[in-house]
Amino acid sequence: MDGAVTAPMTGKTVLVTGGTSGIGKATALGLATMGARLAITGRDRGRAEDAAREIRATGGGQVDVFVADMSAQAEVRRLANEVLHRLPRIDVLVNNVGGYWNTRRVTADGLERTFALNHLAPFLLTNLLLDRLTQSSPSRVVTVSSNAQALGRINFDDLQGEASYSGSRAYNQSKLANVLFTYELARRLQATASADHAPVTANALHPGVVSTSFGAEDPASVQRIFIPFLRPLMKTPTQGAATSIRLASAPELEHVSGRFFADGKPKKSSKASYDEAVAARLWQVSADLVGLTTPPDALQRQPHHEQPHHEQPHHEQPPHEPSAQESTS
Ligand SMILES: NC(=O)c1ccc[n+]([C@@H]2O[C@H](COP(=O)([O-])OP(=O)(O)OC[C@H]3O[C@@H](n4cnc5c(N)ncnc54)[C@H](OP(=O)(O)O)[C@@H]3O)[C@@H](O)[C@H]2O)c1
Repeated sequence: MDGAVTAPMTGKTVLVTGGTSGIGKATALGLATMGARLAITGRDRGRAEDAAREIRATGGGQVDVFVADMSAQAEVRRLANEVLHRLPRIDVLVNNVGGYWNTRRVTADGLERTFALNHLAPFLLTNLLLDRLTQSSPSRVVTVSSNAQALGRINFDDLQGEASYSGSRAYNQSKLANVLFTYELARRLQATASADHAPVTANALHPGVVSTSFGAEDPASVQRIFIPFLRPLMKTPTQGAATSIRLASAPELEHVSGRFFADGKPKKSSKASYDEAVAARLWQVSADLVGLTTPPDALQRQPHHEQPHHEQPHHEQPPHEPSAQESTS
């Protein structure tokens, strides 16, 4: 890569969850090549150290390794403490970990695994790291969602799929939750931002259909049959990481917040994702489920009427349904 492209990430620290394989490792590799100091997480120390060696060999910079099973809240809390201890700054948090299970699994906390890992883990980790992100601002929270968000519905009556479970329904719901969380976080950050304080932004993305180990632990039979034939048509992990890398690094996106991206461009997410009442309710339910019932002061949500437009810092863009000019594919 040439100097003009690599310069923006020099001196920046990026934490990528799930940086041991697939899209997360490709994201870490790309950002390391651009000069960033990387920190990656994974469940297995050996796999994580192997990935870190590869990232160091490619990027040349420092790569920190954190080991945690993020399906367990105690592990997410331990991970956050270690990160706060070892990383003096966090310029970008890439919430990348996610998975699919065809059959219902329960975590150490007694929660349905897809909801716990795909939504509650990034929700908790982001909240626990938010002060450090704010201290490091301008900083960014990038959350890897999916186009599956468009098929999702937040079923508050059966969030954990206890009454009825389907792998795709649980996955779609979790990926919609990623977008609702991102938009709500962007609103809260905007409400607490001040004109003299650089922004923390929050954006979500669809990486494309990417050939990785995704869903391999417990695939649906349709995946088992068709994925081998579809692999040649899928994006490579490097191609799948491109939008995460862009959201983490592009200077022109420093003030862009509360958006959904695909193929590197802003894209309209589902109508349900713009429902602020659902987002606020999901935030509260999630905070209760992870024991963050008293959110940090910085995240106390102000009622809408307390946020007159003329007092909004001009650099932030609130989440909104994009205009028809923006892609809806
Ligand atoms: N692949 C696609 O086509 C596609 C499409 C749309 C969205 N996405 C999203 O992209 C993200 C990355 O997916 P991917 O395709 O790269 O998947 P992947 O190849 O399965 O990689 C998943 C990563 O997450 C880590 N991980 C898995 N379970 C974990 C747990 N319980 N605790 C901590 N880390 C865990 C894995 O590390 P270890 O196994 O080493 O612990 C690995 O680094 C996910 O959020 C997924 O929903 C993927």
